[in-house]
Amino acid sequence: MSPLATALPTYAWEPTTDFLATKYKLPRESIVRFDVNTSPLPPDLRDVLAGTFDPTLSEYPPSDYAALVAAAAEAYGVAQDELLPTAGADEALDLSARAFLREGSVAVVASPTYALYRIVSEQRGANVVAVPRLGPEAAFRLDIPALAAAARTADLVWLCEPNNPTGAYEPPERIRELLSALAANAAADGRVAPAVVVDEAYWEFVGQSALALRAEYPRLVVIRTLSKAHALAGARVGFAVAQPETLAPILAFRAPASVSTVSAALATASFRRPELAAANVARIVEQRSRLLRELAGLGWSPYPSESNFILIRFSSPAAAESAAEALLRVGLVPRSFGSDHAFADCLRLTVRSAQENDRLIEAARGILA
Ligand SMILES: Cc1ncc(COP(=O)(O)O)c(C=O)c1O
Repeated sequence: MSPLATALPTYAWEPTTDFLATKYKLPRESIVRFDVNTSPLPPDLRDVLAGTFDPTLSEYPPSDYAALVAAAAEAYGVAQDELLPTAGADEALDLSARAFLREGSVAVVASPTYALYRIVSEQRGANVVAVPRLGPEAAFRLDIPALAAAARTADLVWLCEPNNPTGAYEPPERIRELLSALAANAAADGRVAPAVVVDEAYWEFVGQSALALRAEYPRLVVIRTLSKAHALAGARVGFAVAQPETLAPILAFRAPASVSTVSAALATASFRRPELAAANVARIVEQRSRLLRELAGLGWSPYPSESNFILIRFSSPAAAESAAEALLRVGLVPRSFGSDHAFADCLRLTVRSAQENDRLIEAARGILA
């Protein structure tokens, strides 16, 4: 056993590009990541990022990240004291688990969803109650009565909007329905309503947000990131957005200066040119329609998506596995799900640039659905 092995639940990272290049005997630069929901940095954004920052690397970042927070406040339409910068959305998720969960707490997830909610909850000793989403015929919607019932004893409810990996989206009025059911149950039970974390890593691709609900429901925390629409996954910048009194316990667990000066400067530069990320989103949304159309034309079965990835159902887990292997052999890396996952017969594919998507469509031609 490795000296680092631990009994704690841990997040399994995808294999590296170098590993896949060696395994499939392909040039490294031919490998395209369709599995991690990132997009290539648009050249116009790259120029902006190269030219605009002069970080003082010998010193620590300012503890208030004033420039980053001011730029984010303007971009998100919130007050500066409602923003907590974190090292990617993932750090904000981990800190939220630390802030709201204790040994024996109940945390509720709407499954299938992003695996990290369960992992960070279990790492805190919480019991995770998974409430299945409705099926594809109901557009993978939230089962609000079941969630509200499961959350009766919960300290934290995790939501992901748009949801990874379904790509489906729950509009704010439905989130409000859930929040008011949670508040009514808490009042009836004489307890504090659970905190609700809405992970909006992909919100830019749908353009709607639950953020405004924080006024009515102060225990709402919205998580944002620069990794997706801003194409800055390597910079590791995200935010928890909430009323200041809700942010306070989350901030308490953040290591000082967890966002580097370089990353803060890159994110600030990107926020100051919002038209560039918006153009990236517009390109991806257009490519999403094209991929959906062309893959369906080849006999594949993609579900509708409000995000920068598409979930595709195959005839069986074996068919999904053999499609994944065929894509990998030509350097296109899909996201597949383990045999015990509800989506074992599915693959998830990121919508990338037009040229990269050309390669995907070409490869898909020979693969049976
Ligand atoms: C739902 C969701 N949340 C968070 C993340 C991670 O975001 P970040 O790169 O900001 O940590 C991902 C990445 O795929 C995601 O799908």
